[in-house]
Amino acid sequence: MGMPFNMTPRDVAPVGTKFRCIQTQLPHPEAVETIRRIQQNEPRASESQPPLLWDRAEDVGVFDRFGNKWLDFTSGVLVANSGHAAPEVKQAIVDTAQHGNLHSFAFYNEQRGELTKYLADLSPDGLDKMFLLSSGAEAIEFAVKCCRSHGIKFGGDKKLAIVGFDRGFHGRTLGAQQVGGIPGQKDWIVLRDPAIFNAPFPDGYWQEDVEFETFTEKIRNHGLKPESIAGVVMESFQGGGPDFAPVEYVKRLRRWCDRYGVLLVFDEIQAGCGRSGKFWAFEHYDVKPDLIAFGKGVSSSLPMSGVIGRPDVLDIFDHGSLVSTHSGNPICSAAALANLKKIKNEKLTENAANLGVVLTERLEAIQSKHSARIGRVSSRGLVGGLQTVLAGKKEPDPELAHRIVELCFERGLLFFAPAGAWGQTIKLCPPLTITEEALIEGMDVFASAVDDAIAEQ
Ligand SMILES: Cc1ncc(COP(=O)(O)O)c(C=O)c1O
Repeated sequence: MGMPFNMTPRDVAPVGTKFRCIQTQLPHPEAVETIRRIQQNEPRASESQPPLLWDRAEDVGVFDRFGNKWLDFTSGVLVANSGHAAPEVKQAIVDTAQHGNLHSFAFYNEQRGELTKYLADLSPDGLDKMFLLSSGAEAIEFAVKCCRSHGIKFGGDKKLAIVGFDRGFHGRTLGAQQVGGIPGQKDWIVLRDPAIFNAPFPDGYWQEDVEFETFTEKIRNHGLKPESIAGVVMESFQGGGPDFAPVEYVKRLRRWCDRYGVLLVFDEIQAGCGRSGKFWAFEHYDVKPDLIAFGKGVSSSLPMSGVIGRPDVLDIFDHGSLVSTHSGNPICSAAALANLKKIKNEKLTENAANLGVVLTERLEAIQSKHSARIGRVSSRGLVGGLQTVLAGKKEPDPELAHRIVELCFERGLLFFAPAGAWGQTIKLCPPLTITEEALIEGMDVFASAVDDAIAEQ
């Protein structure tokens, strides 16, 4: 579904500000050569992003080795919440490696213990246990396993269905893609698990009916009774927007889950760790989940993910059966702990909440100027999205989104390739350390790229 970016080096206007520096052709000819070499040993589907040969990154800046610097609106796909290569995180990694604690398998290490304690303290009362993993998709797979194991144990072997949501994304493994709701991504599965299906996601735009009845109706139409549902897996905000469900919808969902003994899982892999202006994005709904899947921004760096949950759920598995080779790796755990302390000590969640007001205002101004081509803008905290549509229609326009990202790349503002179910969403998600000055500069560049891309067509 992705579109390739232009790989021909071309002259672009030089840029020199506090946050951006563009002083060569883009893409740089040597970068193109190296990227072509890398591509020889990778599947073509791994080619996805603007042709930047990433050399290093620091806070909100991403550098190549040719003297160019981009202002980062990606956080490296919503990972670097405390900024890229934060000194505290770097130090924790170096110290742990220098000490000689690079890997301990499932033997205990102190770093993992400190991290799980810290995360439990950041989570709602009663969510005290967790299983650490490495990727977000793995965390979702485990959350699904928890739901089914819990359902079967307490409701018999008919209580195993899992409900995800249309247009949801939870990763690219077998279970995660079935729970997810992006149709094209599931074609390869063919023989899908009939007990994993999607309900409409009440975003208010692609799905205009936001009443909770759409959820119960879907279960009925799927031929199931609520008693046969084991778990509901919902992104706290859907990444393709970002889109939150209405608060009242989620409160009703929570009550419905309680009534039928269904586990409610919030996927906080992208939404968590301060991004939305609350530490966990589900806090916006004022409900408590049974399980939280986390990843990405928990470390701002090395691979770390996991599932936090109630002891009576996490403790249903047999002794010794929750083990994974890299679970609780000491260096990844030390990095995550340093990152979480920085988010807390430097009030980065609060910074996201405050600057979110600026992000929202700027996005709304862009939309009102181009209302025929921008179907929707949405944001909360430091995550925003702008969705492009064909002129005057409610039909996604991934080509326009792609062109805007490309123009920004040439101007020293970095976005990852458009996301969303049809590649129509440009996501704005800078590190939570960004200042108002940098955010405004980035939004000015973005606004002019939107103007120019629309004018070109
Ligand atoms: C909401 C959500 N869940 C799960 C994942 C999968 O995480 P990973 O790529 O680490 O497997 C992602 C990744 O983008 C995500 O945004």
